[in-house]
Amino acid sequence: MEITFYGHATFKIVTLENKKILVDPWLSNPQAPKEIDYGPYDYILITHAHGDHLGDVLKLARTSATEVIAIHEIQQYLLLQGLPKVTGMNIGGTYSTNGLSFTMVPALHSSSLPDGTYGGEPCGFIITLENKVTLYHAGDTGLFGDMELIGELYQPEIALLPIGDHYVMGPREAAKACQLIKAKKIIPMHYGTFPLLRGSVEALLEELKRYPFQPEIIPLKPGQSYKQ
Ligand code: NI
Ligand code: MN
Repeated sequence: MEITFYGHATFKIVTLENKKILVDPWLSNPQAPKEIDYGPYDYILITHAHGDHLGDVLKLARTSATEVIAIHEIQQYLLLQGLPKVTGMNIGGTYSTNGLSFTMVPALHSSSLPDGTYGGEPCGFIITLENKVTLYHAGDTGLFGDMELIGELYQPEIALLPIGDHYVMGPREAAKACQLIKAKKIIPMHYGTFPLLRGSVEALLEELKRYPFQPEIIPLKPGQSYKQ
């Protein structure tokens, strides 16, 4: 399994059986590395409808080789935009396909489509790989107590957590989120893209000092991968 950070909240995940997943497909983000895999991806997951997360999905999912997975309202929007293969789901549900499972979990944020209309609720995803190892992409979110339930139920091995502050959790909130989720490994995201997203890995490490549970923090530079 390999996770590649493409900047902001965009991650490419290659599974054990070489399925290619792209989460929050903003490949044109200001942090994006020079070398990018433009697909086709087997699955594109969308956490919510804000432009920095819908990203380049309309370009990337033009053919039915790519299945987009998103909440119902985003699904309806993407189908209207002409994408051929979009699976809608909603919070609490799991969609299993090809040895993989995608569970939609809550996120504490907002979500509106490019035309300003309601984009459904924002979400995170639990991705269960072929060997049952689970990853958690939290999407854009503030801290919320039910992260403890997410940790308990799905026991994510690796959590991708926003730390940028202002629009999402900052380091203080993210350090507490680590205590609730209890993933062994944390990959920080959604920071540094713009000056407002001022949360840093150093600040997260500092905030973690006050807590007993110490996950491994794995800061990836855009373009870098983590393999296991
Ligand atoms: Ni957002
Ligand atoms: Mn965002």
